[in-house]
Amino acid sequence: MQRPSEPEMPAAAALMRTRAVRKVYGTQTVLHPTDFVVSPGEVRALVGANGAGKSTLLKILAGAIEPSSGEVEVDGAAAPLGRPTEMLRRGVACIHQHSNLVPEMSVLDNLFLGRMPTRRFGLLDRARQRRDAQALLARHGVELELDAPVSELPAVKQKEVEILKALARDARVLLMDEPTGWLSVADVARLHETIRALRARGVGVVYTSHMLDEVFAVCDSVTVMRDGRIVADAPIRAIDRAGLVRLMVGDALAREASGQAMRPPVAAQSGPPRLRCAGLGRQGVFRDIDLDVHAGEIVCVTGLVGAKRTELMQAIFGAERFDTGTLELDGRAVAFRSPRQAIAHGIGLVTEDRHREGLLLNLTVAENLVLATLQRYQRAGLLLAARVRAAAARWIAALNLQPPDPGMAVRLLSGGNQQKVLLGKWLERQPRVLLLDEPTVGVDVGAKAEIYATLRAERAKGMAILVVSSDLEEVMTIADRVVVMADGSIVRMQSIGETTAAGLLRDLGAVPA
Ligand SMILES: Nc1ncnc2c1ncn2[C@@H]1O[C@H](COP(=O)(O)OP(=O)(O)OP(=O)(O)O)[C@@H](O)[C@H]1O
Ligand SMILES: [Mg+2]
Repeated sequence: MQRPSEPEMPAAAALMRTRAVRKVYGTQTVLHPTDFVVSPGEVRALVGANGAGKSTLLKILAGAIEPSSGEVEVDGAAAPLGRPTEMLRRGVACIHQHSNLVPEMSVLDNLFLGRMPTRRFGLLDRARQRRDAQALLARHGVELELDAPVSELPAVKQKEVEILKALARDARVLLMDEPTGWLSVADVARLHETIRALRARGVGVVYTSHMLDEVFAVCDSVTVMRDGRIVADAPIRAIDRAGLVRLMVGDALAREASGQAMRPPVAAQSGPPRLRCAGLGRQGVFRDIDLDVHAGEIVCVTGLVGAKRTELMQAIFGAERFDTGTLELDGRAVAFRSPRQAIAHGIGLVTEDRHREGLLLNLTVAENLVLATLQRYQRAGLLLAARVRAAAARWIAALNLQPPDPGMAVRLLSGGNQQKVLLGKWLERQPRVLLLDEPTVGVDVGAKAEIYATLRAERAKGMAILVVSSDLEEVMTIADRVVVMADGSIVRMQSIGETTAAGLLRDLGAVPA
C-alpha cells in the first residue's frame, strides 16, 4: 500500500487510546464500547458518579484488567491487554484507587517494585536504590521512613508512597485514580504543582476525582462517564461546576447536591454533653483536648494531616489509650480498653481505611450491613430472614447504593459504594455517639448529599456525631461546631455561624494570615 504524502493523524498524535473497549461481568455491562484518548501535555479529568466505570476504564488502560473486547493502543500500536508490566514498559503508570502496595514490604522496596536497579551480574544495587529514593523524596518534598513496612503507615502516607511509586517510573502517561483521598490541602497543592510540571514535559495525565474544585484547578479537559458510557467530553473552560454535576448525576440529584448549602437551623445546645473529653492527652501524640458533643449535634474536627485527629478518635474508641484527662459519656467517666467495650457503650467509629478495618470484603452487602445486629432479627433462635432483608433494603435505599443488590460481594462494589456500606453498617447499629473519620473520601457529589441528609436525620433523632474531615466544603456543610486541630492540640473551636472557609484555611496554615 502506498503511503499518503501527508500524515493522516492530527498534529498532536494520541499518546494512548482505547478502541471500543468494553467490560462485562456476568450479565452486567459495566463499560460499554468506549473510545478514550490521552494526548501529550494534557491533564484530562475523568469524572462520574460512584460506579460509573472510571476505575474500570483506568484499570484497562493500566493493564490491571483485561477488557471483554476492544483494543488499547500506545503510540499508535496495539498493546497487550491485561499485562501491567507490559504497560509500564510502554510508559503507562497508574496510581490505583485502592492500594496496590505490598504491605509487608518496606517503603523502599515498594517504590522500586518490578524495576530494581541492578549492578553487573544482576546484583541488586541497594545503595543506588536508596539514593534514588532519597532524591525522589527530596524532589517532591515528601517525608517517608524508607525502611518502614508499608502496613505500619497511616492511610495518607500509603497514598504518598503510591503516588511516588508512579512518579518514579518517569511515565509518559500517568493515570491517577483519586490520588488525593486523605491528602490535606497543602499536599494536594503540591501534587498539582507536580502535575503541572509533568504536563510541561509533555506527559499525558488522567485525573479522576470527586473533588470537583481540584478538577477545575488542575485539569485542561474533562471526560464525564455515566452508567458505563462517556456522556461528555469538553475543554474545562467550556463547563461550569453545576453543569458538570448535572452531567454526572442527572438533574434531580444535582438539585439535591446544590440544596445542601441550605442548612437547617440548629437548636442551641443546652444540658450536659453526651460525650465529653476533658484535658485528654497521650504522651507525644495529643494533649489538653477539651471537646464535647451533645445529643443532636454534629461537631467537625478539621486540620492538616499529622494533626493527630485520627489518633484522638482511636483513643475515644478504645483502640488506643490515653494517659491524661478524662472521657465522659452522659456525665459518667469511662475509659474503654477495647473497641468492643466502646461499642457496648453505644459508640461507633467509621474508620478512614475501609479496606483494612470495617468491611468484610468477601461477604455480601446485606451481610456487612446487618452482621453486627443479627440478634435483633432473631426470635427463639431463628433468624427472621425477611426482616434481615428488609433492614438491608432500607440502608441500600437510604444511601442509594449502586447496584442496589444486597447479595453482591462488597469487594465487587466501586470504591464510593463500599464507603456507603461501611457507613450503613454503623448507622444500622444506631450508636448514641458516632465517630466518623473522613467519611466521604471517594464518594461522589450526589452520594455525599445523601450521606449528609442521612447524618442530619440521625442528628435530628438525637445522635451525637463527631466527624474528622479535611474537606472544608464538607465541614462548612454539615458541622454545627468546628474544631481545628494542629500538632495534637485544639487551636480553635467555634460555632458554624462564626466560621468561614477562608478563616479555616488561615487556621490550617494553608494560606498566610
Ligand atoms: N469484579 C466485578 N464483578 C462485578 N461487578 C464489578 C466488578 N468490578 C467492578 N464491578 C462493577 O462495575 C461498576 C463500575 O465500577 P468502577 O469501580 O469502575 O466505578 P467508579 O466509576 O470507579 O466508581 P467510584 O467513584 O465509586 O470509584 C460498578 O457497578 C461495580 O460494582
Ligand atoms: Mg473508582
